[in-house]
Amino acid sequence: MTLTIKPLTTHLGGEASGVDLSQPLSQGMINAINAGMDQYGVLVFRNQPLSQTEQLNLAKSFGPLDMGLKKLKVRKDRLEHPELADLSNVNDDASGVVEPTHKKIVGNIANQLWHSDSSFQRPAARYSMLAAVRIPSDGGDTEYTDLRAAYDALPEQMKAELAELKAEHYVLHSRFLLGDTDYTEAQKATIPPVLWPIVRVHPGSGRKVLFVSSHARAVEGMSLAEGRMLLFDLLEHATQPEFRYRHKWQPNDLVIWDNRCTLHRGRRFNLNQVRELRRATTLDIDAPELTAEEREAAHA
Ligand code: OGA
Ligand code: MN
Repeated sequence: MTLTIKPLTTHLGGEASGVDLSQPLSQGMINAINAGMDQYGVLVFRNQPLSQTEQLNLAKSFGPLDMGLKKLKVRKDRLEHPELADLSNVNDDASGVVEPTHKKIVGNIANQLWHSDSSFQRPAARYSMLAAVRIPSDGGDTEYTDLRAAYDALPEQMKAELAELKAEHYVLHSRFLLGDTDYTEAQKATIPPVLWPIVRVHPGSGRKVLFVSSHARAVEGMSLAEGRMLLFDLLEHATQPEFRYRHKWQPNDLVIWDNRCTLHRGRRFNLNQVRELRRATTLDIDAPELTAEEREAAHA
């Protein structure tokens, strides 16, 4: 089979066809998908009904898996594999929706802030692979923005100002923003904050990236207020409509995005309607900022 990709916007997103993702992939196909990801940042695959195990195996063929926020052990998941993230508002037997005050709903809503998955840890996430099971009749799209186009469009003076700056990303920052503060000290300390340069290089395309995210809460060497305001401004710049792709979900869609060069956010939907997606995520173990120890630990 040959992978074919049709561009979806000027800057990012491609609709891919010519592959059955439920089957083990040849090395040639893995290379073709990686090349497509490097170019488009987001690949949409329609009509890919995947079992939970098939989705996990697909992710494993692209690298070691990310457990992300699950390390906090806020709640037990209803899925078959602990490596899969439950992006849904459904109850444990999936027979209906949970109350709007349920802990997992805060997670859904936090995902509606622009972010890069797991930017709050080292290594962060490389690919997120989100599979749609059930979709509400309206709302609940996912939007993506291209951080390479965002960097290119910065004024030269701003590029120079940002060149050496680092931002601090923290796992619970976006939760705190939403008033969700009910965590034990042990949970708050499970994933300590990490620093990432605000300007990074996306290895696949060799292009510079404006690496901001709603997980970023401070700029190293700046007062909290000045740093946060800079981060707000950069996020506003990075998420202009011209850099975006908006995905309208259909059941059995599988969308892969590259967290190293894109941001994403879910869009509001009626919480009384079922929205059920699940995600498998790989780790960005090749990030040049990582130490050899960090890279080793990710394989363990
Ligand atoms: C995610 C995420 C947004 C959405 O899966 O990482 O942020 O629209 N999802 O569900
Ligand atoms: Mn996300």
